[in-house]
Formats: sequence, structure tokens, C-alpha cells
Amino acid sequence: MTATAAGVFKADLLSDTLTKPSQAMRAAMAGAEVGDDVFGEDPTLRALEERVADLLGQEAALFTPSGSMANQLGVRLHVRHGEELIGDSLAHVVRAELGAAAVLSGISSRTWVSERGRFRADDAASLMITGVGPYQVCTALVIVENTHNFGGGTVQSIDEIRRAREITRERGVAMHLDGARLFNAHVASGVPLSDYGHEFDTVSVCLSKGLGAPVGSVLAGSAAAMAESRIWRKRFGGGMRQAGILAAAGLYALDHNIDRLVDDHARARRAAEAMAEAAPGSVDLATVETNIVIVDVAAAGWTSAAFVEAALTAGVRTYAVGPGAVRLVWHLDVDDAATDVAIDVLTALLRSAPEA
Ligand SMILES: Cc1ncc(COP(=O)(O)O)c(C=O)c1O
Repeated sequence: MTATAAGVFKADLLSDTLTKPSQAMRAAMAGAEVGDDVFGEDPTLRALEERVADLLGQEAALFTPSGSMANQLGVRLHVRHGEELIGDSLAHVVRAELGAAAVLSGISSRTWVSERGRFRADDAASLMITGVGPYQVCTALVIVENTHNFGGGTVQSIDEIRRAREITRERGVAMHLDGARLFNAHVASGVPLSDYGHEFDTVSVCLSKGLGAPVGSVLAGSAAAMAESRIWRKRFGGGMRQAGILAAAGLYALDHNIDRLVDDHARARRAAEAMAEAAPGSVDLATVETNIVIVDVAAAGWTSAAFVEAALTAGVRTYAVGPGAVRLVWHLDVDDAATDVAIDVLTALLRSAPEA
């Protein structure tokens, strides 16, 4: 059972952002040594930034209050007013940051259509426009999201990323990785975090998603890029004072909550298999790569709105991501017992669509 202000759920599969800090994480936060980070004096925050930079194979890092801010600092760094970023049409930066690149930085965006957010270097290469003088908008940045949220937890291929890196390097275009769930990608693929990180000019990672910290993301890149981002973070209102309390949660999360992501992936797969069996066509098992499952409830005769409502009535919270598609996300507050309940409720619903 999870109790939230929104209600009490037998299984809460709405998002991996819902996790609440454990007692041990809270104890680490309470005991954190802190200082004023705007003056660069918070030792716990420094330790977190050094740790993340190191993990991602980058020179330096910068703590931010959210993944959106980390992404927008990355975007701001590489793209000048009037230039563009490109990414896939389901990318969080394009779709779910409320036009921040345009509003905050005067940047336009163009997108390619992907299959479940799957990154292909050719898609980026064919959309990219460089060296066209004053006639067209210049592409300054390619965004890659790994894993891909709206794509359904898709893990990106390191080979495609490397190919894109070669192309962008030749054409003078930067690359930013939205790695809100990079830890899931790393655990699922076995590719070291630094192998992913190394291919990008900047990388953002979230501590507040699968890793279970209450707040916080980190942007990583070169020392010069992070020094500039520190200025922009302050301008964006993200300069924080004794943020070591939050960094302590992040350090705890890195120490304890990376390897356990395999459990979330295994539970997501177990549920996906049960749903695929209950209602053939509702889940394509080949698309279940990490902790996110997209269920085609339309294939079982439901609209997503009706399915979400019926699941909620039975104590399972889910999220509609399209008229006939529902997203389920596993995280550290959904254990085996909650997964069993979710399987019982969701498979029963899939077997019994309402009368049309
Ligand atoms: C892929 C991706 N990037 C960035 C973010 C933004 O993170 P935040 O909610 O901390 O701003 C999210 C949030 O869900 C996300 O899924």
C-alpha cells in the first residue's frame, strides 16, 4: 500500500518520480555536512558533483534542482539565440519542458519521428542543417534521451550514439544526453555509464527518478562548460544554499540504488508477460527493456481513460499516454507483492473490456 495526498494505492505505477526517501536516506541527509553552495562551500555537494562527473567520464558536474533545469542548462550552453536543437518528436526536452528552450533561451526545435524513441544516427544526420550561412536556421545541438521515457523505457544503442558523435563532430554540432534514466540504461545494457557519458558534450542525470532521491539532478561536462552553467543556473534561479542535505540523498542513492534497478526491470517484465498472455497484442514484449511498460489497452477494447479509471478504482494507479495507450512504471516503492496485485488487477481488466 502506498499512501499519497492523491489517495491510497495497492500499486502505484504512475511514475518513478513518486518514490519517498527511505529512513536510511533520511538519516544520511540529516547528518550531511553543509555550507553555502552559491559560495561554493558545500562539501557534500562538491563530493556529489565529483562523483557524478567521474561516473560519467566527464571533467566536472553541477547539481540542479530538476532534470528539466539540467537539460535546459545543457541546451543553453550549446545553442545560441536563433539557432536550433534537434531531437525525436517524443523527447522530453521537446515535449515536456513547456517550451523552455524557446522561452528561456530563444532556441527553436525541430524533430524527427522515431519508433518508440529509438535513436538512429541517420535520423539526426538527415535533419541537421549546418553551413548554410544566413539562409536557414543552423543546427547547433542533437538531443538523445536514454532511456527514452515516452518511448517506453527504450535503451539507446551505444553504436548509434558513437556514429552520431562522429557525424556531429565533423559538422560542428554538439550533443546533449538527457540521461534522466541513464542508470536504467546502464543496468539493462551493461554499458558503463562513462561509455555513454564520454560521447556527449553534456549529460544530465536524475537522482530523483529510479534512484529514489527526493530532489535533484546533475549536469556533467567540461570544466569550462560547468563554470558557465553555474552562472546560468543562478540566472535561472537555481543557485542553492545548504543543498548538501539534498546531495547526501543523491550520494546515498548512488551507493545503494543503482544495482537494485534490475529488480524494477524484472518486475516490469513479469507484469508485461502476464498482460501479454492475458490479452495478446496488449503488450509487445520486445519493447519492454527497462522499468516502463506501455500497454496497448485499445487492443483489448479499452480507451486509456476508461482503463486508467477502472484500474484506479481497483487500487492501481497508471497513466494514459495516448487515447489507447497506458504507461506503467516500476520503481523502488513497488515490491513483488504490489506487482502481484497490479498483475491481478490489470490482467483481469484486459480480459474484460466494457461493452462498446
Ligand atoms: C526523460 C526525462 N528527462 C527529463 C525529465 C525532467 O525531470 P524533472 O521532472 O526533474 O524536471 C524527465 C521527467 O520525468 C524525464 O522523464
